[in-house]
Amino acid sequence: MLTDLPHVFFPRVISVREVPAHPARPENSRLIFCEGTQAPVNYSGLVGVSSTMPRTSVAKGGMNHLECRPMSHLTTGERIHLVDKKGRQYALTLKAGEIYQFSGQKIPHDELIGRPDGTVVTLSGGKKMLALRPTFGDYVLKMPRGAQVLYPKDLALIPMWADVYPGARVFEAGTGSGALTMALLRLVGPQGLVVTYDLREDFAKTALANINRYLGPTPNLVSLRKSAYEGIDLLEDGVPFDRVVLDLPEPWQVVPHAAKALRSGGIYLSFVPTVPQVVQTVEALERAKVFGMVETFESLIRTWSVLGRSVRPDHRMVAHSGFITVARKVEPGLLGVRSESDSAEAAFSDSPDAIGMEEATS
Ligand SMILES: C[S@@+](CC[C@H](N)C(=O)[O-])C[C@H]1O[C@@H](n2cnc3c(N)ncnc32)[C@H](O)[C@@H]1O
Repeated sequence: MLTDLPHVFFPRVISVREVPAHPARPENSRLIFCEGTQAPVNYSGLVGVSSTMPRTSVAKGGMNHLECRPMSHLTTGERIHLVDKKGRQYALTLKAGEIYQFSGQKIPHDELIGRPDGTVVTLSGGKKMLALRPTFGDYVLKMPRGAQVLYPKDLALIPMWADVYPGARVFEAGTGSGALTMALLRLVGPQGLVVTYDLREDFAKTALANINRYLGPTPNLVSLRKSAYEGIDLLEDGVPFDRVVLDLPEPWQVVPHAAKALRSGGIYLSFVPTVPQVVQTVEALERAKVFGMVETFESLIRTWSVLGRSVRPDHRMVAHSGFITVARKVEPGLLGVRSESDSAEAAFSDSPDAIGMEEATS
């Protein structure tokens, strides 16, 4: 059991700041901020600037990051992306008084602060760029990295196949740069919980900074410097995890721990880049005897160029990232452990020729 949770964040409160008049904002207006972040947020569906929200009624709300939606105007302290004509993105953190330089051209941050998300801005040499608040997928590709991050295509699929839902209690390892942690946090919501392990202090530090910058403080994240190969500790309440999600080199070492830490019906998911890793993982799942419905797949996304009548697949794509293996923790008995002869039979019956023969003779 965990008795000390050194990296638990505590719930935020909301503050309201008076902001100076700006063409994009009415005079004497107030912006609503989540404490610890610079980005203003909406409150109870209010969009944009509130000139009437009394401070006390906002503070009482006790909101967390998932109830906080970014407003439509770019603000000092937030990380935005400038996008050029070719779609290339450049990240910068807005700071009043600073100047952004790009290929010998400049733009003062003050010209970006207060402008609507999605605005076209002109640099000193005439270059036009879009100023955008990044999507989650754009953000993870440009955020500072310790470890290699998962690609958006995998970040999209993993929560779906792990069936991560609002209120779920999820165990994750390793934290890496925090991309998957954020994807999980966004889904479990304020009632859920993510416990994440990584051995490396430097990676965890980068990850927590990335997470904090994008989501604000996350009271429902527990980040620990521990090896998942050595075990998965339940929290003090002893409640098992609903989901175990792994992106580390040897997930098969975690399988026996996942078998204990998951609730019945819970889901195990791991991501690995090579086939031998998949084989070891699936064998470990079979050995554990409590996992069924084991499935392994990969995803390929091929983008297309659509230019008038020239409609064709793009020349480049991310052809390989990794394999996702999913399994459910179930009562043993119905789904047995496969024998060597089962494997040989499966290899034969799954081949296209065998399927063809079956069809021809039936
Ligand atoms: C590929 S990175 C994870 C990237 C992460 N999913 C992301 O999207 O940002 C793998 C991480 O696993 C961590 N790791 C390796 N062995 C570990 C172990 N036994 N327990 C916990 N974390 C481990 C590494 O330090 C590294 O940060």
